Amino acid sequence: EQNDRESMFIVNEWAADYFSDVLLNDVDGRAVGMQYFRSRGFRDDIIQKFRLGFALPSRTAMSNTATLKGYKEEYLVKTGLCYRRDGGELSDRYAGRVIFPWINVSGKVCAFGGRLLDSRTKGVQQKYVNSPDSDIYHKERELYGIYQAKRAIAKEDLVYMVEGYTDVISMHQCGIENVVANSGTALSVHQIRILRRFTANIVLLYDGDAAGIHAAMRGTDMLLAEGMNVKVLLLPDGEDPDSFARNHSASGFREYIEEHQTDFIEFKTNIMLRGVTDPIKRSEAINSIVKSVSVINDQIVRATYIKDCAHRLGINEATLISTMNKFIRSGK
Ligand code: CTP
Ligand code: MN
Ligand code: MN
Ligand code: MN
Ligand code: MN
Repeated sequence: EQNDRESMFIVNEWAADYFSDVLLNDVDGRAVGMQYFRSRGFRDDIIQKFRLGFALPSRTAMSNTATLKGYKEEYLVKTGLCYRRDGGELSDRYAGRVIFPWINVSGKVCAFGGRLLDSRTKGVQQKYVNSPDSDIYHKERELYGIYQAKRAIAKEDLVYMVEGYTDVISMHQCGIENVVANSGTALSVHQIRILRRFTANIVLLYDGDAAGIHAAMRGTDMLLAEGMNVKVLLLPDGEDPDSFARNHSASGFREYIEEHQTDFIEFKTNIMLRGVTDPIKRSEAINSIVKSVSVINDQIVRATYIKDCAHRLGINEATLISTMNKFIRSGK
């Protein structure tokens, strides 16, 4: 098992170098893959820092090269670099896609994401194809970009959480390096505990659509329970950090973040209570907000938030405290 994992990391490491070499040096890699990254405005240093690559369109290009180099089919399949077709023959999973390697917190390549280039095939094929879970990769435990971000996270004592690969990359290019992505999944306790090693402060910087709002609401309570200080920033609808970074200067982006991030209470209040006048609906929303506060372990932090809630919601503090205590006693 341990040997298996080692062999999987080794073949992934080779594959990351191979995809990068294709992108930088192969005629088709340059014309197609590099052209794509250029069209998104990615700089050379950033392409190298994130070890971006390109997989040639042939379904056997990568695996043939790997096999010639002596890498075993077994590990090409176990890592998910290849899968077996019905007839049993190997097929390269990411053929024809640009490659985003996942580098885990210790610097090892644990998985890949591959993006379609041609928007015409969207709908027919998935925009992103990712490595399946394996002995070295559990999607819900890993954070894209953590290796490139961890020093900056510790230094700034703050992490930005975004949704996607290109959001992480564009923010680095903007000079904001304390950023990771959870790749469209729900935030997990494992991911939070990795971050907790570097900082207790997080800003959720999600897409300004329904999915982004939903993800931010859901993530908040878990983060609070793990002792994180949570702020939320939703970008304007239709924008993500990547598109936003492209339309703003680095300093403009930083300013926007500074000015628009809100405390989780303010965020929840805005989302759940704006325009709601029905007393029962209001009560449900207020209960949900107080419940969020109740999961915080630190009593003083809780008290501070309750004060803030009372002020914001126009409800007396004692009422909120007794509601909160009910949640604490019932343990959920
Ligand atoms: N994602 C995925 N599989 C999909 C769609 C999305 O794994 N079929 C993950 C990817 O990590 C992606 C993130 O969820 O980066 C956010 O999805 P989305 O906002 O749709 O993609 P973007 O990152 O904005 O990609 P792009 O700008 O290239 O369209
Ligand atoms: Mn496993
Ligand atoms: Mn989205
Ligand atoms: Mn997006
Ligand atoms: Mn995007």
